[in-house]
Amino acid sequence: MIDNKKVLFSGMQATGNLTLGNYLGALKNWVNLSDEYECFYSVVDMHSITIRQDPATLRKRARALLTLYIAAGLDPEKNCIYYQSHVSGHAELAWILNCFTYMGELNRMTQFKDKAAKHADNINAGLFTYPVLMAADILLYQADVVPVGIDQMQHLEITRDIAQRFNGLYGDVFTIPEAYIGKVGAKIMSLQDPSKKMSKSDENPNASIYLMDDPDTIRRKCKRAVTDSLGEFRYSEEQPGLHNLIDIFCACTNRTPDDVVKEFADGGYGQFKEAVGEAVVAVLDPLQKRVAELEKDKPYIDGVIKNNAEKANYYAQKTLRKVQKKVGFPEKIR
Ligand code: TRP
Repeated sequence: MIDNKKVLFSGMQATGNLTLGNYLGALKNWVNLSDEYECFYSVVDMHSITIRQDPATLRKRARALLTLYIAAGLDPEKNCIYYQSHVSGHAELAWILNCFTYMGELNRMTQFKDKAAKHADNINAGLFTYPVLMAADILLYQADVVPVGIDQMQHLEITRDIAQRFNGLYGDVFTIPEAYIGKVGAKIMSLQDPSKKMSKSDENPNASIYLMDDPDTIRRKCKRAVTDSLGEFRYSEEQPGLHNLIDIFCACTNRTPDDVVKEFADGGYGQFKEAVGEAVVAVLDPLQKRVAELEKDKPYIDGVIKNNAEKANYYAQKTLRKVQKKVGFPEKIR
């Protein structure tokens, strides 16, 4: 608890370009959470280097992500938006937690297996202990809730296991975090294969709408979206492509599927795809303009980076001091 509010923590990687799915499914819905929770959103650059990165690109993308969060409406006075690498407590706690995590547990992580298979030439120890760093992120702030997608559930589970193990040995040190189940955003699927989630790492650029796509690109991708040959305008699981486009349209316009089906029932898919394109442009265009404006204001963004790192560090140190004492590190002489 911080000021009587529960703590919410989320981390995001600045690798790859964020998609419309990231925005409608997550970001957009986080804007009002700071009323209820003390929110920490970390740009987890330390996680990113488990895969080889071009340094200049990583730096640029990390800043772009941080800027995007602010542009999307997360007020940096109310939400702690910061770089993981600016708060050394993440690394320090991760080391300690490494000593309370078993090889066998980490060996079971499906994401490790996937990533190891994908990057067979660089299966580094950091990739293996990635979930421990993630546990440190969460536990460092005594987070109560963590909004995570299904792909990160296993990592949240191991975080809980590590925290419980540590608490079992040393008393109530860590808050045991839970998955955040709140108003969930729309689940946006690939435009080319609606059985798959829209993903920033999709190899087919037409499958995803990127948040920084220009209006014509957005319109073209919507026009090319895969539908079906039934030719009936319904909101049905049997028509996953159309279903997805209706979801996108609804998320962008705050309308309901019923209402949309009524309006477009008489037109063809083509006409609806055009409407979807316009609806997406109407959401992303202002967002992009706001990003551009913020990017011009370097002192403001720099100020956010500095102040929020200080804030994060303050809470991180509180937990870290407790943990260091518990495991038997000698007190610092001041
Ligand atoms: N592993 C997460 C991902 O790739 C990112 C992440 C790092 C995270 N630390 C976290 C998410 C802590 C939630 C909480 O999506």
